[in-house]
Amino acid sequence: MSKAGPPHGANAHEGLNPAAPNLPARIVAGQRAAASGGGKSGAAREAANVAAISIWPTKAIGQQIVPFLHGFTMQVLPAIDSTNSELMRRARVGQRDPVLLVAEQQTAGRGRLGRHWHSDGPPAAGGAIPAQGKGSGAGSLTFSLALPLAPNDWSGLSLAVGVSLVRSLHPELRLKWPNDIWLDDRKLAGILIETASFGENRFAVIGIGINILPRAGEGLSTPPASLQEVLPELDAPAVLLRVAPALVQALLLFETQGFAPFKAAFKTRDMLYGRAIILSDGTTGDAAGVNGTGALMVHTSSGMKAITSAEVSVRPVGA
Ligand code: BTN
Repeated sequence: MSKAGPPHGANAHEGLNPAAPNLPARIVAGQRAAASGGGKSGAAREAANVAAISIWPTKAIGQQIVPFLHGFTMQVLPAIDSTNSELMRRARVGQRDPVLLVAEQQTAGRGRLGRHWHSDGPPAAGGAIPAQGKGSGAGSLTFSLALPLAPNDWSGLSLAVGVSLVRSLHPELRLKWPNDIWLDDRKLAGILIETASFGENRFAVIGIGINILPRAGEGLSTPPASLQEVLPELDAPAVLLRVAPALVQALLLFETQGFAPFKAAFKTRDMLYGRAIILSDGTTGDAAGVNGTGALMVHTSSGMKAITSAEVSVRPVGA
């Protein structure tokens, strides 16, 4: 990421609930139904909406975030192509207040470098609900937080987001530059940050996908990790309650102070540090931590190189 601008993309908004103005955040039930593609009777739709409302800690999250983010709302959809894409679409039509959008299922989740982000939604009707994660039935937590953001320097934002997430979750989690959270050398979660400018204003969409339950790793070089391995008592709504308010605080800190307050914490969680790595452009070397702007330092045969490109991926040799 450069000083001039952030990585890619856009964001969105919802007003406070006029029917219940004392509720700081809300779920828009009508949009749940619309997003599910219809097909259900009104009563069945309403029942599904009520079920979803009861499992997501919308009020508790709103109470912790609204004092810091004016106009913040939260919304849960049963299915959408991608929470990042949806918030970008809304931003383009002028919906740009802070919003947390959760999707119980994404049909076209996106990862970095144009990759697909696979996530498990609720089990199919009649299917077995895993013993853990019964609250939501969701194998993954997928959400995006969109908000106006105006740091002087965007460098290191994805690293700061990663630091916030691992701090909120578990001491064994590690960060893999620039956007991943790993557990025991397996990927557990990913971060996709996109930004857009609307006139003078810059907006950011912070998209996060976390594997809550174990899932098959077809086509992946390393099978994914799941949060259940270290936090078996947490389902997706509980994880969201843990991470979302802290994430907002981290973003506000980043906006005023940049990457500096996160650098030391990144180092303690840096899974690449001191390891032989290979970059997707063929560069090899030993990872030597990150610099003050969050660039990956690599000790190569031709000297120390600072890797900043969001287009480069990196993996430990042998992993
Ligand atoms: C990566 O590992 O490459 C990033 C994955 C980011 C996935 C999340 S899930 C919620 C949000 N919506 C998306 O389409 N992608 C992000």
